[in-house]
Amino acid sequence: MNNTDFNDMAALSGLDAVKRAITSAAASVMGEHQCKAESATACDLVGLQNTDAESDEPNAALINNGVSQVSGVQANNDGLSADTPADADGVSQVSATAASKIPGTDERPCFRVFDDWLEGDGGKYRPGVWHFGIKQGKNDAPPTPTENRVCSPLHIEAVTFDGQDNNFGRLLRFKNTLGRWRNWAMPMELLRGAGDDMRGELLGMGVEIDPTAKTLLANYLQAKPPKRRMRCALQVGWCGDSFVLPDTVIGTAASGVIFQSGERGHDEHTQAGTLDGWREEIAARAVDNPLLLLALSASFAGPMLARCNAEGGGVHFVGDSSTGKTTLLEAGCSIWGGANYRRSWRATANGMEGAAALFNDCLLALDEISECDPREVGAIVYALGNGRGKQRAGRTGSARAVTRWRCFVLSTGERTIATTMQEGGHRAKAGQSVRMLDIPSARLYGAWDTLHDSPSGTAFSDAIKRASVTHHGHAGRAFLEKLTRDGQDFCALLERFKALAEFSADGGEGQDKRAAGRFALLALAGEMATEYGVTGWPEGAAIKAAAEGFRVWRAARGRGNDERRQILDRVSGFIERHGDGRFSDADHNGETQTRDRAGWWRDTTEGREYLFTAEGMREALKGFDFARALDALQEAGALPQPAADGKRARFYRIGGRGVKLYPVQVDKLGSDHGAG
Ligand SMILES: Nc1ncnc2c1ncn2[C@@H]1O[C@H](COP(=O)(O)OP(=O)(O)O)[C@@H](O)[C@H]1O
Ligand SMILES: [Mg+2]
Repeated sequence: MNNTDFNDMAALSGLDAVKRAITSAAASVMGEHQCKAESATACDLVGLQNTDAESDEPNAALINNGVSQVSGVQANNDGLSADTPADADGVSQVSATAASKIPGTDERPCFRVFDDWLEGDGGKYRPGVWHFGIKQGKNDAPPTPTENRVCSPLHIEAVTFDGQDNNFGRLLRFKNTLGRWRNWAMPMELLRGAGDDMRGELLGMGVEIDPTAKTLLANYLQAKPPKRRMRCALQVGWCGDSFVLPDTVIGTAASGVIFQSGERGHDEHTQAGTLDGWREEIAARAVDNPLLLLALSASFAGPMLARCNAEGGGVHFVGDSSTGKTTLLEAGCSIWGGANYRRSWRATANGMEGAAALFNDCLLALDEISECDPREVGAIVYALGNGRGKQRAGRTGSARAVTRWRCFVLSTGERTIATTMQEGGHRAKAGQSVRMLDIPSARLYGAWDTLHDSPSGTAFSDAIKRASVTHHGHAGRAFLEKLTRDGQDFCALLERFKALAEFSADGGEGQDKRAAGRFALLALAGEMATEYGVTGWPEGAAIKAAAEGFRVWRAARGRGNDERRQILDRVSGFIERHGDGRFSDADHNGETQTRDRAGWWRDTTEGREYLFTAEGMREALKGFDFARALDALQEAGALPQPAADGKRARFYRIGGRGVKLYPVQVDKLGSDHGAG
């Protein structure tokens, strides 16, 4: 919105300049809000019809508190703004005569909105919403007019509701304390009870409310609904062919849709700097840096998921501290927003659904998996893939609609998703490990292959961190401007990408194939961003980076398997060497002298079991990460699932004494080690 102070301008440059400025401001107002005809089209596009709102019948339900008839709410009953263009931008000196704006007794009671100071017969009127009433005189006394200021200037522009005739709201346009115009789609639900929630939000956004006019405000907001209808979206993401962000909607039918939220101040999808700046400072650094290019492609992949009919999922960068993992995430976030865009795993454990509403069809960036309770990781990974929150009961006990979402996730950590999950006592299911693909961030210089002009890995990372503060929030919108208008069949296009030699999973298992498909999707997202002119990368760069991602994912998986093999071999070797000397029969009642005891053995229906003492187990696994090695044994079925407390050692009574021991099934150490 234009914030020109026309009074100052009138003083400085004369009225002609003001008029010219007003004409252009009016044009921009029309441009921003769309003209009436266009909004009607938009409503048709989203399948909404104007119905009975044109009727001028007073609403009997609202007769209340001295407002016997709510009618003629000025300015907003047809189209977005019936104000003269001059009114729309705060021109006080040039306004029409005041007398015509103060309603006569025959028009009362009614509300009027004055965007500016107004001089009337009875005196000056402050800018704002005014209620003009009429008070019946006692006995034969004539009725007296009443006037109450309700709040600062606030127009009701449209009725909003979701695709299922629920979640009704009003699109409000108001002037805040600083004199700036602002929009908010207010859920009508906030008017329940005494309406404190609604007033709290409005006050927070800079609307001043007269403390004595609380009920009048509620009446005003529920007065004759404006004719204009809009579809509201309660989540960020696709809404028909439009893409909804908290502050804007992108697409050809965008003017018929708005983001509706009971909360103000969504500061995730913010903008700073320029698209050119982002391209030079961030995108350019991704050339010949496959992990950075992959992270950026992943960020563009969010909106592609729905277009490709693909499920949510993500990429998890694993590696040592200070290699640039968080930097990768920050770069990915810079496509959509600023510093507040990034989430940590910790903050997300409880707030998954809220996060999903803000990052649906977009990038969800979760930093540092170790900050999350390992027991929660599994549930989160599951929820991410599954795309829905926990079912909650509504206040009335009815099952509330579950929040659904689909995000592309970028995540970081020093340990893999599977390892973290195992720490929490969950074994990563096959499906989960391909939902979140572990990508080692160990390249030439930390996470980087090329430093371009930077002297060191640190300098390179820090330059990206700085740039993502300076330039953010443009690339995603530029991408969506093109994507929302691109009618091609992305499912078919994805199939073509999957068929590329780079993503062939020959000789691999089903999971390799699925992972290859995810990398093909990343390649597609990155290539589309390049084709749309957003990235400035050479054609094919995103395919190359995704292919490299697939290669290192496969290699790391292979290594994981190798390590597991080594662990199993080590334990079976240990048993072979010391099985007789340092273990004895657990059921033998007599005294046994065993030097350097490593444990006991016993025969079960499943075969022989070696019960390792903690020291024996540690000795056998020397050189391996103890927890990881136990995970590997468990995965092979050689150790049982951990008990409820997460511990794998079990309590045994041997020779009258209680001991904690690890029961190792020797048969399971063989060649069939149950990969996956
Ligand atoms: N590739 C790198 N080589 C050397 N130091 C680095 C590298 N990347 C980052 N750092 C150092 O680590 C700090 C933190 O970077 P960050 O991306 O948050 O690392 P991580 O998340 O991997 O721990 C940086 O400010 C920088 O000093
Ligand atoms: Mg980090």
